[in-house]
Amino acid sequence: MSGYLDVSGLQIYYGGIHALHGVDISVGRGEIVSVVGVNGAGKSTLMWGIAGVLPIAGGSITLDGRRLPPKPHEIVALGVSLVPERRRLFTTLSVEENLVMGAIRRNDRDSIERDKEGCFALYPVLKERLRQRAGTLSGGEQQMLAIARALMSRPSMLMLDEPSLGLAPMVTESLFDTILRIRDDGVTVLLVEQNAFQALEISDRGYVMQSGNIAASGTSRELLENTLIRKAYLGG
Ligand SMILES: Nc1ncnc2c1ncn2[C@@H]1O[C@H](COP(=O)(O)OP(=O)(O)OP(=O)(O)O)[C@@H](O)[C@H]1O
Ligand SMILES: [Mg+2]
Repeated sequence: MSGYLDVSGLQIYYGGIHALHGVDISVGRGEIVSVVGVNGAGKSTLMWGIAGVLPIAGGSITLDGRRLPPKPHEIVALGVSLVPERRRLFTTLSVEENLVMGAIRRNDRDSIERDKEGCFALYPVLKERLRQRAGTLSGGEQQMLAIARALMSRPSMLMLDEPSLGLAPMVTESLFDTILRIRDDGVTVLLVEQNAFQALEISDRGYVMQSGNIAASGTSRELLENTLIRKAYLGG
């Protein structure tokens, strides 16, 4: 299938460890696509590979039909932004300073201010906490800030690695609602989650990863309704 983001035959190694064995995924423009799978399946490796952080040993990654450039900052400049697992905020910097860091490679002051307001519309609590150090926010607020910081780079494609990690189910649910709003604003979303059921609920399609391979794929409904897949890969 040819989409907006196409990953084809992706191979990644950590030294002698073969982590991705030829992974194919495709994300259409305006879709939310989930990649689910247990611990160590290779989900984060896939994200880091797309973001240009890990070297690629084989296969190709294209955005809108063009190969992604090799360097992470060039990939961000093309519109692909990753919110990494465990958020990696600048914890000693304020909420505002973290947002500014997200826009570090932009120089369009007026639209940066407008995009900040957009983030506050999505996550009003960030405006209340503007001068607070990021490290003092709750887990849910830190995740909101990590997403908002990524949005400040104006991505057309947002990749989220385990945004629900460590969050209560209710917090996860409201966070996932905002992912739907982000998509409705025109951003394509690739969502990686161990929390397969909640992720598939908000996704159009999904891929199940297992030991560095894609083990199953389909519409979210197909994956959720398939008893074998539920038992084998989704834990129930
Ligand atoms: N820095 C590393 N060095 C060596 N092996 C690694 C490294 N990072 C990951 N791996 C291995 O690569 C495989 C895929 O790991 P990865 O972190 O991509 O999985 P994951 O699906 O994101 O898991 P989780 O759900 O725990 O985040 C695992 O076997 C893991 O042990
Ligand atoms: Mg991971």
